[in-house]
Amino acid sequence: MTAGPAGPRQAALLAHEAEHLAPGGSDEAVHGRRVFAEGKGSILTDLDGHQYIDFGSGTLTQSLGHCHPEVVASLTRQAARLWNVHDAATPDRADLGDLLARALPPQLDTYAYFSTGAEVVEAALRVVQAAAEPGRNRVGALRHGFHGKTAGARMLVHWDIGHQSFAGNSVLGYSPYCYRCPLELTYPSCELSCAKLVVKHIAAKPNVSALVFEPVLGAAGVIVPPPGYWELVADACRRGGVLLVADEVLTGGGRTGSFLASTQFGITPDLVTLAKGVGSGFPVSVLAGRRDLMTEEVAGQASFTTTNGGNPLGISAARATLEVVARDDLIDRVRVLGARVSERLAELHARFDQLGDVRGLGLLHGLEFVQDRAGRAPAPELAAAVYRAALDLGLRTCLGGHILRIGPPFTIDETLLDEGLSLLEQAVETAVRATGGTPRTPAPRTSAARTTGPAA
Ligand SMILES: Cc1ncc(COP(=O)(O)O)c(C=O)c1O
Repeated sequence: MTAGPAGPRQAALLAHEAEHLAPGGSDEAVHGRRVFAEGKGSILTDLDGHQYIDFGSGTLTQSLGHCHPEVVASLTRQAARLWNVHDAATPDRADLGDLLARALPPQLDTYAYFSTGAEVVEAALRVVQAAAEPGRNRVGALRHGFHGKTAGARMLVHWDIGHQSFAGNSVLGYSPYCYRCPLELTYPSCELSCAKLVVKHIAAKPNVSALVFEPVLGAAGVIVPPPGYWELVADACRRGGVLLVADEVLTGGGRTGSFLASTQFGITPDLVTLAKGVGSGFPVSVLAGRRDLMTEEVAGQASFTTTNGGNPLGISAARATLEVVARDDLIDRVRVLGARVSERLAELHARFDQLGDVRGLGLLHGLEFVQDRAGRAPAPELAAAVYRAALDLGLRTCLGGHILRIGPPFTIDETLLDEGLSLLEQAVETAVRATGGTPRTPAPRTSAARTTGPAA
């Protein structure tokens, strides 16, 4: 899959659009400068006909790849029938409730529907606020967590993503970012000091009503907690009467190898937010909660309705997506393919000193680029150069600062997955050599990477 630099039609369209487009796009848009015209399965095609393996799955949304035929059929059927009747019941909504109940832990048996990730986080905060005992007016969050760009969600985010942080009323705890441990310790000799500090915090602040967290921190670069972290923190929350609100907007729906990442860490959440993969990229999100929390008395009448929340199109996309995920045992596939990705990324890590850390779970991995292994200073220019080189070779990834994330569709076939991983290695090599770096010789591989020419 060789794409080459963006062609003339894309350049012309980007120049045209720039006359009116506001600045402030993602690193991906700024550095990628591609105009995608079509997506089918794991392949994207740009306006000049070049093709790309999409290791970004849209924005980690396309669990079934682009335009999965059954999701297209469901959306097309729904588009011809009904688009919006506020929050009135529709046939697909009842089916979606059943599918969610089968996929989620039994305590999460009540659902409300929204359209975006930030919107569902806001709804979770409304429930938390309504359920809180008097005086418990603060919410806990973790350093490096990301929960969206609306004001309430932003209050939980303590780093400058989107725009400057506005920490508000949330209380901050240490996340398990072992590669950049704020306590300068190393696992396991650290004895989970970060978790113990969060536990201390929770005990010291009886006014905290809930902890909102990503079980695996996605936007910050796929930070996977070490064994024991969540056991300590979740147990302290339980004992302290602090609600556990798992923000699984990114991880929910199977991406980490289980429907919820929380269950892999032994967390029993009281509320869960779901969005990206659950609706195949269509704007739909779900707040799943304990029935005793999701009541009218607790949440307030009409607290769960919005103009587009749970609109029939979004619901039909989610219903079709979850049906296919369950029927085709795709979460088992995520675990198998994820192990393959981890293995190849470990080889990459061994070759390049500028690749400070690779980590991940299921089909969600992060590659952290640094100036050198000893200093660990972030290398955003290098990450951007790898991102661009990968695009030129025919591979799309997700770029944010000095970190590349990869999360291929669950449906990708093994050949294409291997090809994408080989393109990633070539891209890292190209970018590292361009900065004067010298990669180590790769260990011999048995299967050679397939390379195809640009699409006609
Ligand atoms: C964990 C998490 N929560 C919330 C959001 C916000 O979702 P949205 O961009 O749909 O508002 C994101 C977006 O990436 C996310 O990763």
